[in-house]
Amino acid sequence: MASRSIDELCEELKKKNASAIAGGGEKAVAKQKEKGKGTARERIAQLLDPGSFVEIDELVTHRCTNFGLEKTKPLGDGVVTGWGTIDGRKVFVFSQDFTVLGGSLGEKHADKIAKVQDLSLEMGCPMIGINDSGGARIQEAVDSLNGYGKIFFRNTIASGVVPQISVIMGPTAGGAVYSPALTDFIFMVDKTSVMHITGPAVIKAVTGEEVTSEALGGAKTHNEKSGNAHFIAKTEAECFDQVRAVLSYLPSNNLDDAPVVESSDSPDRAELSLREVVPTDPNKSYDVHNVLKKVLDDGVFTEVQPGWARNILTGYGRVGGRPIGIIANQAQFMAGCLDIDASDKASRFIRHCDAFNLPIVTFVDVPGYLPGVTQEYGGIIRHGAKMLYAYSEATTPLVTVILRKAYGGAYLAMSSKALGADMVLAWPQAEIAVMGAEGAANIVFKKEIDASSDPAKTRLEKIDEYRHAFATPYVAAERGFVDRVIFPEDTRKEIWLALVGIESKRVSRPARKHGVIPH
Ligand code: HXC
Repeated sequence: MASRSIDELCEELKKKNASAIAGGGEKAVAKQKEKGKGTARERIAQLLDPGSFVEIDELVTHRCTNFGLEKTKPLGDGVVTGWGTIDGRKVFVFSQDFTVLGGSLGEKHADKIAKVQDLSLEMGCPMIGINDSGGARIQEAVDSLNGYGKIFFRNTIASGVVPQISVIMGPTAGGAVYSPALTDFIFMVDKTSVMHITGPAVIKAVTGEEVTSEALGGAKTHNEKSGNAHFIAKTEAECFDQVRAVLSYLPSNNLDDAPVVESSDSPDRAELSLREVVPTDPNKSYDVHNVLKKVLDDGVFTEVQPGWARNILTGYGRVGGRPIGIIANQAQFMAGCLDIDASDKASRFIRHCDAFNLPIVTFVDVPGYLPGVTQEYGGIIRHGAKMLYAYSEATTPLVTVILRKAYGGAYLAMSSKALGADMVLAWPQAEIAVMGAEGAANIVFKKEIDASSDPAKTRLEKIDEYRHAFATPYVAAERGFVDRVIFPEDTRKEIWLALVGIESKRVSRPARKHGVIPH
């Protein structure tokens, strides 16, 4: 047989590329668009720097012969993989193509994902997965399950080594939800993303409960109720903006430094208005966002999980161009108490920041752990312990700013000196005590109050006496538990000085396989 010309051979390659790029064909793409969803390739193009995407495994296809699947051999096998850049920094990416066999995951589809996971780990670059899939490819049965296992394994090994981001842009059902759950963050798009272990039909059959797919596993549910997701966006474009914003704070891997940006906001900018933001009356509420806005570069706070466990804030910001992780009690919700969800939310974020050596600045105004039977039965002891564990274990620089209340066990849990904080700053109205003045006075002065001819008046006097003597930053400062009592207006400068002072922190811990974190 005569050999084919190079033009013929190139024509063949062109056809194969075109077939891969066509995905599931015009009809399936139109259906995808009707749902307000982009195609797998459009999404990658939207996420990455223009023209930076390099695709691999475009011609991979399955080798399944069950249930007639051998008649459909889509090139790419329902997932687009490769690498590109975001803000000029390399990232690895996969994007499931729902137009091809419903984006379902079979053996080769999984192998493609595992390959980019391996590359991201070897190259020390973030891994971003765009999920839009009907789950395990039914025809491929146990090969499909094994494929998920390979992905979960790699998610776990890469955890804390490279940032891993899961973007949910369609259905994610069954065990498939566990890859996203093993990554640093889950981003969802309102109305088009769904995640659940079992769908509404199975739930109805098993428990009799009736629920819609959206109510069960939609973006709002996971961002506000379950705490499984961390970000919600109205559109896919907004979702990718959020992903890029988060990556801008993170190093590419645990051995790299986080990117420092040029900032025109002077680190020693004083903010006299901070004196007015936090009321000195411990019973009055305020929004701690207003403290963060005045302290961070250009007032920008990128909040993580803003809709869940709203009594504590987690997120990123910059001071003098340096990225930091932020934890802050939110007095506006449950008076900023630590409960089960707040402890889970904060301790995971602390570990995330520590893994990537992002300094953590903790803003404290906490009346205590939340009392209640539900909390106790729910395991507040083990959940609350995670905060103690996460801060104690952290070797990243830790700065603490005590704005007002810091009572009891919650004082310790919020990045106290004893747990390893490198620099503890306190405002003049800080009340660092075993409990609030009212509770303490009732116990300490019980006899005097009971014996008084006017117990109510004596009680108030004693509360005042206790408050002046103990509910201050000065007792802790005398002991060295507070390093500096500062003027509120100098908070930004003081954090900056602290960060510069402790940035070269080096600590080592005893060698061990790993600790046993309370769950
Ligand atoms: C093979 C699948 C598929 C799957 C969808 N398709 N899911 N093919 N395996 N898991 C195919 C459909 O047959 C259809 O093919 C095409 O993809 C588009 O699907 P539609 O149903 O037309 O789309 P839509 O109406 O939008 O519904 C989407 C859906 C639904 C809700 C995801 O397809 C669905 O319920 N799929 C099955 C979900 C499921 O049970 N998956 C297994 C979960 S268990 P045609 O040829 O008609 O275009 C699991 C275990 C993982 O994942 C365990 C890991 C440890």
